[in-house]
Amino acid sequence: MKQLIVESGRVVVKELPDPTPDIYEVVVANAYSAVSIGTERSMLLNAKRGWLSKILDMLKNEEMRSKAFETLKRKGLIGAYRTWKQLSQSIDGGMPLGYSSAGYVISIGKGVREFDVGDRVACAGAGYASHAELIAVPVNLVVKVPDSVDLLEASFAAIGSIALHALRLSQVQPGESVAIIGTGLIGLIAVQLAKNVFNAKTIAIDIDSEKIELAKKLGADKGIALNSEKDVINEVIEVTSGVGVDVAIVAATTKSSKPVNLGLKLLRDRGKLVVIGDVPINVNRELMYKKEAALIVSRSYGPGRYDEVYEVKGIDYPIGYVRWTLKRNMQSFLEFIKERKISLKSLISKVITIGEAPSFYEELISGRSKYIGVAISYDESKYLSGALNHKVQLSKPEVQVSSTAKNIVGRRIRLGIIGAGSFINNVILPTLLNDLKDLYEIVAVSTKHPQHCIKAGKRAGAYYCTTDYREILNDEKIDAVIIATPHNTHAEIVVEAIKAGKAIFVEKPLALNEEELEKVYEAYKNNPVPITVDFNRRFSPLTLKAKEEFSSKPIYGIYRVNAGFLPLVHWVQDPEVGGGRILGEVCHFVDFFNYIVGGRVVELSVEAMPVDNVNIVAKDNIAVVMKWNDSSITSIHYFAIGSTELPKEYVELHSSGSSIVIEDFIRMNIYREGAKRTIKLKNQDKGHRNHLLEFAKLLRGEKSKIPPFEEYVYSMKITFEIEKKLRNLARL
Ligand SMILES: NC(=O)c1ccc[n+]([C@@H]2O[C@H](COP(=O)([O-])OP(=O)(O)OC[C@H]3O[C@@H](n4cnc5c(N)ncnc54)[C@H](OP(=O)(O)O)[C@@H]3O)[C@@H](O)[C@H]2O)c1
Repeated sequence: MKQLIVESGRVVVKELPDPTPDIYEVVVANAYSAVSIGTERSMLLNAKRGWLSKILDMLKNEEMRSKAFETLKRKGLIGAYRTWKQLSQSIDGGMPLGYSSAGYVISIGKGVREFDVGDRVACAGAGYASHAELIAVPVNLVVKVPDSVDLLEASFAAIGSIALHALRLSQVQPGESVAIIGTGLIGLIAVQLAKNVFNAKTIAIDIDSEKIELAKKLGADKGIALNSEKDVINEVIEVTSGVGVDVAIVAATTKSSKPVNLGLKLLRDRGKLVVIGDVPINVNRELMYKKEAALIVSRSYGPGRYDEVYEVKGIDYPIGYVRWTLKRNMQSFLEFIKERKISLKSLISKVITIGEAPSFYEELISGRSKYIGVAISYDESKYLSGALNHKVQLSKPEVQVSSTAKNIVGRRIRLGIIGAGSFINNVILPTLLNDLKDLYEIVAVSTKHPQHCIKAGKRAGAYYCTTDYREILNDEKIDAVIIATPHNTHAEIVVEAIKAGKAIFVEKPLALNEEELEKVYEAYKNNPVPITVDFNRRFSPLTLKAKEEFSSKPIYGIYRVNAGFLPLVHWVQDPEVGGGRILGEVCHFVDFFNYIVGGRVVELSVEAMPVDNVNIVAKDNIAVVMKWNDSSITSIHYFAIGSTELPKEYVELHSSGSSIVIEDFIRMNIYREGAKRTIKLKNQDKGHRNHLLEFAKLLRGEKSKIPPFEEYVYSMKITFEIEKKLRNLARL
């Protein structure tokens, strides 16, 4: 499918794989998407600037500034320079454009009840309702379009809802007066809403007299061309019988704070100033005080926007508590179009095809465009059969399967990577593409988002990329898969991969609960494919050495993890997606002791810090003591409130008068028979490379350190037990 992407400040048409819907998403074949001229123009102008200027701009934000200084402190000047440059490149490295569109549902996710294939819908959301032939959108950002409303008008529903939300926030009453400053697309929609829906006396103000004429045609009671501020104030005072307006809405986009201050001057005593547009808000405090004016900055299309629970998980707010959510605003906006209270046709000055879009955007940023409403049209008919193509062939020819395809000896292992986010890019890929390039050949990469997919596939040097990981599982040329998706998908994909007969390298945790683990183990028993879970600590050269040194039991072990704070909004902390840090991270340290001690845990106790607030997550500060059947005792001290200066991991092992200390997997001290030996690695090595190496040996039929699958299953069971005990602590 085709999508508009911004690359280095230029809009290009990209051929991307078709999207696959997530559980609560629908895939829509867009008939039209609406261009939000002001917003998109400033985005493009911003993307055109050099990386240094963007970074300097980011540093104006206090939070970004403190993050930048932290990076500088941690990585030094050169390290920080690299990070900042990378960050700025990622800002313009393939940004989707657009946030308001309409089309037909062609595919639905497993959890979707509200929509059917064939439904006519309007969609919202940057990163979702993009200028693309196909889009995957969560259900709370999608509404059905009434039969009598055509899709061209409906494609403006999200943009129109921005104006509607601002008017709702103003609480303007029938008979009151509203001044709308800035009559671009949103301003002209606001004019119609103020007049025809909210029954207010409507005054349109703009520097462009043509737009003022249009505002009057659309129902404005008064149109004032902004020549001198004094004249505007006098006219408004006259129209409002000397009182001033009840509400002033600023819908202009400018770097000047004049529109906001003009709005304030036009207000009556205790009037409301509502800001929609991207303008600086340097208001005259004295005048605000004198009028006791209210300042409201209106956010997007309404409540629900930017709330992951609402947008991504599709959980609605009860209507009794939140009457006008963003979705209900969009529905009501479409009703106003149906009732002819809003005319969009008179605002749509141009409809272009996606192929014409790059030159249109060039014109837009050169400042020559005089359009108000512009829509991009697509040939949706080619997708209505529902046949999608999730795969895009990248530069190389495809792998040829020889008659000895299943025999890996003498050739590289053909790998499919499912999920290629930060961990794969920063840790696994550099190893696969350098050190282990003679062992593995990356055939395919799968990610969720179409625009990430091609990038990730190219970075990995894959033959193709796909947004449907099942294509990788069904590809007979692929021997093994690496699964590095969010935690809630691991068990399901592992079960499918086992059924497809693939060898599996899955990221931890293997499953999020006992039930998922049971399903994985059942599938494995039916088809025992080679499988390993990325409990990489057991493959660190220092861990292997420690195991070699320590044959005597019992062992007294301490594992201290200075984990660092992770806010509750991070996906790992989401109970349904990441499962929290115990399942997501503590499982590593459980597995470490499972490897070092072995046997069975006979007693387990846990304690958590009895404090839960914005800075301390109780469950992230715990002590776990495990007693093993050979009398070994091991403890894990995992906390998120330590200093960032302190190295993350520290292990002590003691047995029969000997001791081993592992410091952050870079140094190991062995104390034995009155002497101390130190092993110092050149770089920290937590075992990722060795693990991939051992996996390759397993697949090639060589002697390998990959343990029986049951050992990993047991590590997960102990982790679930820790989680259960934590839940049972009365105070949590
Ligand atoms: N062993 C270790 O020491 C270690 C350390 C860190 C992380 N990890 C593990 O690595 C895994 C990934 O973590 P991360 O930090 O890299 O997360 P991330 O940056 O969010 O990456 C997740 C990746 O999964 C993709 N994805 C999501 N749903 C998918 C689907 N249905 N089909 C195909 N791809 C899908 C995403 O696609 P998009 O890019 O299109 O969104 C993204 O590429 C997690 O399991 C984590 O626990 C392990």
